[in-house]
Amino acid sequence: MAVIGVLASGKGSNLQALIEAVTSGMVSARIGVVISDHPTAGALSIACASAIPHYCIEEPRRRTFLLPDIEKQYIERLREHRVEILCLAGFMRILKEDLLSAFSGKILNIHPSLLPSFPGLEAWRQAIEHGVKFSGCTVHLVDGKGIDTGRILLQAPVPVLPEDSPEILHRRIQKKEHTLYPLALKLFLAESSLLAGGEKK
Ligand code: GRF
Repeated sequence: MAVIGVLASGKGSNLQALIEAVTSGMVSARIGVVISDHPTAGALSIACASAIPHYCIEEPRRRTFLLPDIEKQYIERLREHRVEILCLAGFMRILKEDLLSAFSGKILNIHPSLLPSFPGLEAWRQAIEHGVKFSGCTVHLVDGKGIDTGRILLQAPVPVLPEDSPEILHRRIQKKEHTLYPLALKLFLAESSLLAGGEKK
């Protein structure tokens, strides 16, 4: 059974959805560890409530990325818990070379827009500002070549209604995220095991 590591900075609703998906058996995997860069992240409480090992590794220098010495600490923890696949669930740091190469081709991210539209911060606000009629969410592999870039695994559309505030739209997108992320992970695991089977032949 694949071991998943989850990195999260925020409230952790996507982490919760992933936990439910593995607990119900919908996704055949185990969440081995949760790491946050923020000590008060809801994701840490969620991990605690589900008895999943969890750590906070802060980046005290308040950068948008983790400096190499901090990335190394993340990698050590992930390896200690035998993580094979890394799921970013609202992790607000840009991954750099060490983490990217430690889990090359095995890092998934969820983003609250239909990429390649609206990468970066507050994608739901960008959608409203551009007047699009549909936005949505995307699960993609992280290739490190840009912000929110990499092969798209799955997407789901969400309507943008004329009366939507950014907060209301974000809530509607998040609801969709909670089914999309587990499904994308399930498909990715199936694809990875097919490829591994192919390699053995
Ligand atoms: C989600 O909207 C996700 O798309 C984005 O960050 C948010 C995390 O929310 N990358 P939560 O912490 O999982 O509730």
